[in-house]
Amino acid sequence: MTSLINIDKKNNNQTISRHIYGHFAEHLGRCIYEGIWVGEESPIPNTRGIRNDVVEALKKINIPNLRWPGGCFADEYHWKDGIGPREDRPTIVNTNWGKVTENNHFGTHEFMDLCEQLETEPYICGNVGSGTVQEMQEWIEYLTFDGESPMTKLRRKNGRDKPWKLKYFGIGNENWGCGGKMRVEYYADKYRNYQTYVKDLSGNEIYKIACGPQEADYHWMEVMMREGMDRTEPDKDAIIENIWDYHRPEMNGISLHYYTRNRANYSSATDFDETLWFDYMKRTMKIEEIIENHTAIMDKYDPNKEVGVIIDEWGTWFKVEPGTNPGFLYQQNTLRDAIIASINLNIFNNHCDRVHMANIAQVVNVLQAMILTEGEKMILTPSYHVFEMYKVHQDATLLPTNVSSPFYTHEDDQLPMINVSASQDQSGQINISICNIHPNQSDEIILNLEGITKDSKVIGRVLTAEKINAHNTFETPNNVEPAKFDDFKLAQNKLTVNMPSKSVLVLQIK
Ligand code: AHR
Repeated sequence: MTSLINIDKKNNNQTISRHIYGHFAEHLGRCIYEGIWVGEESPIPNTRGIRNDVVEALKKINIPNLRWPGGCFADEYHWKDGIGPREDRPTIVNTNWGKVTENNHFGTHEFMDLCEQLETEPYICGNVGSGTVQEMQEWIEYLTFDGESPMTKLRRKNGRDKPWKLKYFGIGNENWGCGGKMRVEYYADKYRNYQTYVKDLSGNEIYKIACGPQEADYHWMEVMMREGMDRTEPDKDAIIENIWDYHRPEMNGISLHYYTRNRANYSSATDFDETLWFDYMKRTMKIEEIIENHTAIMDKYDPNKEVGVIIDEWGTWFKVEPGTNPGFLYQQNTLRDAIIASINLNIFNNHCDRVHMANIAQVVNVLQAMILTEGEKMILTPSYHVFEMYKVHQDATLLPTNVSSPFYTHEDDQLPMINVSASQDQSGQINISICNIHPNQSDEIILNLEGITKDSKVIGRVLTAEKINAHNTFETPNNVEPAKFDDFKLAQNKLTVNMPSKSVLVLQIK
């Protein structure tokens, strides 16, 4: 089999935002508690209660942002429950996730500390479903205001003098579902109302993210783009020292949630055959059509592509591991998850004109996790390795690609075997990430790239394994990890690669 990839070095006017490589941590199962927060008294090495091993591992993938506190949890979270002395914080029931007791020990200060330790941007999701406008306004004041006010007094009493910087703020989560079961016509007005009080204070500038559609709900996108913001010309008479801006609904981004799953029949993360392998590849690839259809709607209202699509929940969703709490969404992570991560990231990179941010769900111990923990032990998943390999694309310039790929045929269906994305960073280095989804067929790939010579320096790394369900365990943590790759030949303007079956390959060309 042979594929042909043409890489266009001239049409390079889009940046792959590093925020496409974002993450998500919800108060769900063992994500926050155990996965991130162990408490200051824990024998597990920690800094102010936050696990050191997890922070260290996440720093290695250049985590650009972290979304918190949910998810569904966000629309029943009352932030004042999570500040002040921990022993005085009220307990609540986490009604979405196992109906367990939440002790609120991990709250605003702990989350902002985590972000500082990770050197990452916080992305906070506010409560629209069961919270008030006032509560949301006060949270922003508590976080970002520098002057004298009731909220800053409270913040200082809780040990933080200076405000934090907070850019990304979501106005509710899945408000069509767990976030209030609203119709979009109702949510659009709620959005306009709540966002009015999410203000820029003390030089802090907020990027407001509206709740967007689930999957292919194009009506939701249409209504939000039409009604969610005011695109009329400003009334000049009303502009008095920028006061007018405060009356104008703004929407910098709109979310899109798409999970690779079969809601009618959840299956095992590790025990699957080729039919299920194919099925999950196909479900993953569907996101491209969905992004393109949403983009077409957005283009009607926002032809300059100012509003970003924020895919703040994506990834695989399988049956929980046997014997674990069904409400905790704990699943293993195999080579199949790595291939799925690679397909998604290639698609997001290639649509970076609209996709400004994405957050895989979730960072530790939940769904398609980067990291799994068991007591003091921690392992990195195959998906983690894809994020580590792909970090070269962060903030690099997209190089458009044109792919002619053979098909992977299974039963009566077929999918393109190869998918790719490419970029060039500021130093001139070219990065190419290629994914071969075929479970047992290698591929000769001819890459046409102007400027490459037989003396070019190429660093290659590949992620693959013998079995489609290969994964890392606490006993054998290094089953699936990247390896050096040098099965390629260089020629003038051409690179020929022998790409193994079921693999992810990243090439860096100097
Ligand atoms: O990521 C798990 C859950 O999936 C989130 O809480 C919710 O937003 C989505 O339905």
